[in-house]
Amino acid sequence: MRSIKQIKNLKGQVVLLRVDFNVPLKNGKVEDNFRIIKALPTIKFLQKRGAKIILITHLGKGGDTLLPVAKALNKFIKAKFIPEVIGPSVKSAVSKMKNGEVILLQNLRNNEGEQKCDKIFATELAKLANIYINECFSVDHREDTSIVLLPKILPAYAGFQLEEEVENLSHAFKNPKHPFLFILGGAKFSTKMPLIKKYLKLADYVFIGGALADDFLKAKGYEVGESLVDNTNYGITGIIKNKKLILPEDVVVRSGGKLVNRKVDEVKKGEIILDVGIETIKKIELLIKKSKLILWNGPLGKYEDGGATGTKKILKFIANGKAESIIGGGDTVAIISAMKLENKFSFVSTGGGATLDFLANGTLPGIKVLG
Ligand code: ADP
Ligand code: 3PG
Ligand code: MG
Repeated sequence: MRSIKQIKNLKGQVVLLRVDFNVPLKNGKVEDNFRIIKALPTIKFLQKRGAKIILITHLGKGGDTLLPVAKALNKFIKAKFIPEVIGPSVKSAVSKMKNGEVILLQNLRNNEGEQKCDKIFATELAKLANIYINECFSVDHREDTSIVLLPKILPAYAGFQLEEEVENLSHAFKNPKHPFLFILGGAKFSTKMPLIKKYLKLADYVFIGGALADDFLKAKGYEVGESLVDNTNYGITGIIKNKKLILPEDVVVRSGGKLVNRKVDEVKKGEIILDVGIETIKKIELLIKKSKLILWNGPLGKYEDGGATGTKKILKFIANGKAESIIGGGDTVAIISAMKLENKFSFVSTGGGATLDFLANGTLPGIKVLG
């Protein structure tokens, strides 16, 4: 990937800066600024060197306005919002820009071309600028127009956060430190199975929590009551005896209206597993103490619904420890942000699905085209 530091003269150059400001909204307001904050060093670098910066991003699946994002962004830098993606008003706004100015265009996915690898849409966007910069690691797993086509038309570079993501996440699969503990939770089994297989080879311990653990416990023959399970056959039986694989010994269940700690072989019909149990938390803490590298994705419990204790305790434990810690995942990072622990880990990824794909495959479509 070419670094933006390699661009000789940025003064007066028009830059299309693809960011991922697909941020959580609540009551029409941005709830978490993490992704915006992480793009600021690149924006400020370009401003200082006199570039004209056109920020482009998607939000949701399309149809939403970026106005709330524009408001959130303006708490950090001055950026004019142009509520169109392409067209005369965009051209006119760009032609009036002064060096160091920033504008934000409307939601890319409001144009049908964005998710169709549409050459006409790509050309329209490219005409606005001389340089393309990818600062959107968290959406680089999508083969969208602004991610894989634009860098083929314009000279393309990687933003600072993208470089950081690649550098830090690579620590998990390029000569990782040992002992290496991989903690995997959450719910989307299909997206996580390739990771389990890969990291059973690379890591020394693979702890499975969250709803993923329910499937393993069920495959071992334990009663899991009404817990969330994914009954698709992902080949669990092939790995269940692997010595590196560590499963919860006890869990917190909702039984009737109450939360109860139970050994995994004592869960009853009708109960719902919500979290890892007390003994399991102690066991993970011991593993953390032994480890030099910790990679974590996915909450260990149904945190929105009474199952946040395990995740929070373990996050605090890692935050206070010495091991290198790399954490990613939309839900996991939302918990970290809410706890204000963002700066307590070696690296917190801005990605959800992109982080999983990068950890599984070592690259992403949006990164490949920058090479
Ligand atoms: P991330 O976004 O960090 O990659 P996922 O999206 O895979 O994580 O998983 C987060 C979801 O997993 C949350 O909605 C959480 O409630 C759910 N989850 C975790 N543990 C359980 C559980 N035991 N039962 C039901 N849902 C769970
Ligand atoms: C994300 O939030 O993970 C990225 O912005 C990608 O969004 P998408 O899953 O809608 O493509
Ligand atoms: Mg998620």
